[in-house]
Amino acid sequence: MADNSSKNTPPGYPGEYEAWFTVKDGRRVFLRPIKPADRELLLDLLHRLSDQSIFLRFLGHLRDLSPDLLDHLTIVNYVSDFAIVATVVEKSEDHIIAVCRYHYVRDTGGTEFAVAVRDDWQGTGLGKEMVRRLFDAARKNGIRRIEAVVDPSNQAMMKLLNALGRPYTSKPLHGIYTFLVEL
Ligand SMILES: CC(C)(COP(=O)(O)OP(=O)(O)OC[C@H]1O[C@@H](n2cnc3c(N)ncnc32)[C@H](O)[C@@H]1OP(=O)(O)O)[C@@H](O)C(=O)NCCC(=O)NCCS
Repeated sequence: MADNSSKNTPPGYPGEYEAWFTVKDGRRVFLRPIKPADRELLLDLLHRLSDQSIFLRFLGHLRDLSPDLLDHLTIVNYVSDFAIVATVVEKSEDHIIAVCRYHYVRDTGGTEFAVAVRDDWQGTGLGKEMVRRLFDAARKNGIRRIEAVVDPSNQAMMKLLNALGRPYTSKPLHGIYTFLVEL
């Protein structure tokens, strides 16, 4: 079950990022920070993403998440690591249909972000809204620059970045682009 209640929230859970959002075709989704209890729903999202979306998100062919990786993805400190999920109820079951996150990268000292929207919800304005909210959270947490690694074929992600209107630079490396966005 998607835990949308204000109970069972981990320490530091920033409830102010909870919000309803209406996508372009009128469907409503509930946006909130991720919680440790989201492990199964996150796996469910991964299993429902197309191969193409998985490739564009992970630049590889991830089909499962190890327990350690699930910990890493669901247990965040909401400051240097942050994730927002979009939840809906479908056929009486809760689902996470999108996730947007940033995390501190120890090797570079920078902050990286990424987003994935389930295929049947893509193109509805959800990805853009989630990245916009994630950038707000990052800014409030003192992060000034944030980067994303983007496959050159990923027109949707490039359009999304342009649509947000933040200044950015991009550089190619080994066939992929790193976008550095000023917050
Ligand atoms: C990239 C992604 C997050 C975008 O989210 P989305 O909800 O589908 O996109 P939105 O509806 O918010 O649209 C954002 C912009 O991209 C454009 N866009 C959306 N889908 C597009 C597509 N398939 N091709 C070209 N442009 C597209 C929209 O027109 C919009 O631009 P606009 O505001 O100027 O009209 C989503 O498609 C996705 O999850 N893709 C697979 C995983 C991935 O690529 N993640 C990014 C890794 S960094």
